[in-house]
Amino acid sequence: MDSIHIVGGKRLEGAIPISGAKNAALTLLPCALLTDGPLTLTNLPRLADVDTFSHLLNGLGVSTKIEGVRKGEVGRRMTLQAAEIASTVAPYDMVRKMRASIVVLGPMLARAGEATVSLPGGCAIGDRPIDLHLRALEAMGAEIELAAGYVKAVAPKGRLSGGDYSFPMVSVGATENALMAAVLATGRTQLFNAAREPEIVDLCNLLVAMGGRIEGIGSSHLIIDGVEGLNGCTYEVMPDRIEAGSYACAAGITGGSIDLIGARPHDMLAITNALAAAGLMVEFHDRGMKVSADGPLKPLAISTAPYPGFPTDMQAQVMAMLCVAQGESFLEETIFENRYMHVPELRRMGATIDVRGRSAIVHGVGGLTGANVMATDLRASMSLVLAGLAAEGETEVLRVYHLDRGYERLEEKLSAVGATIERRSAG
Ligand code: UD1
Repeated sequence: MDSIHIVGGKRLEGAIPISGAKNAALTLLPCALLTDGPLTLTNLPRLADVDTFSHLLNGLGVSTKIEGVRKGEVGRRMTLQAAEIASTVAPYDMVRKMRASIVVLGPMLARAGEATVSLPGGCAIGDRPIDLHLRALEAMGAEIELAAGYVKAVAPKGRLSGGDYSFPMVSVGATENALMAAVLATGRTQLFNAAREPEIVDLCNLLVAMGGRIEGIGSSHLIIDGVEGLNGCTYEVMPDRIEAGSYACAAGITGGSIDLIGARPHDMLAITNALAAAGLMVEFHDRGMKVSADGPLKPLAISTAPYPGFPTDMQAQVMAMLCVAQGESFLEETIFENRYMHVPELRRMGATIDVRGRSAIVHGVGGLTGANVMATDLRASMSLVLAGLAAEGETEVLRVYHLDRGYERLEEKLSAVGATIERRSAG
């Protein structure tokens, strides 16, 4: 098993290009199921999760072709085409590898009139049920049955019909499934208390480019008027705000200065506000934003919340940074019930953190020390990398496959700004 080896204590300085957003890619890719035309996505990140999702789509009859990038494009260019749906079953073997696979349910049901998807089950950061996905589809007439670990959804007479659904709590994935189903339903669908994450806006913009009719984009009230069919198009995946935020924390924790090229600061104001409150200098410019240390780090009080609140996907990385701030920080995790798995590992590096239920108090310490650590999820792994960059001595982060799911060319990007970091194969 590979590991990431870091010699900490280097001040990072320079520029890091921000890749296409993983979470946007994972909701744009299944849009290929909605049309028989070709869908070309550009600025796709090279990530294990994107590959896993492509394989899942291949199994459903979607062809995927990686093409050379054209002038002015960045990232990877992929053309997907579902001339016809070959299978309407997303099997356990694929879904267990990646919970986000559940978002094939809505588009498959909308296009083929039926879909069978393995239930994702629990994961390291909590139970993560899919009840809201199912309720929203039922509001569009879907008949749903759960049996043998699978959810089977059928649209009576082969087509969903528009309906209204008010989400009792904000869910990114359920909003995505509902949107992709509603665009091909008959009549109007209204979604209330929908998620407003920038990745949802990216999805809406792609659906509109494919011929979908959506009003209220960017708000929590989405109005979708179903159309008879959608067309293919070419669309650029938005930049990854969580990757950008993670590298901003790398600047903060190492007392450095990193220019995040391609970041879109207006999509991440809760993050940039937190960075500024921690005493970092955050400068927006037309190619991205620059984040620089400007004196000692200050403690923060942060509660995670759906967008435009502070993202749960940044909690672990900011916590790592706050371990070396001057004073006591308070963090509250309101989205997932078990998202402090990085805490015991950070403690092994010298951090002082008290966790009580969903709250954590981080007592700033003078410095961290390197250790062998491992994490159970993607963002937790990144928090350990950040701690390793600041720690005195050597850190080895095990279970690198978590990082490969969501950080493109991590070692390369961090080495380029002065980190001593390398991937080691266990042979
Ligand atoms: C997405 C993101 C993930 C991010 C999360 C919250 C992707 C691929 N993943 O995950 O990185 O951390 O949003 O911003 O985009 N819930 C229910 N029932 C449901 C659905 C969700 O109770 O049917 C609960 C979840 O358990 C959780 C909360 O709602 O407590 C939010 O989850 P949700 O927004 O759905 O997260 P994901 O879409 O899974």
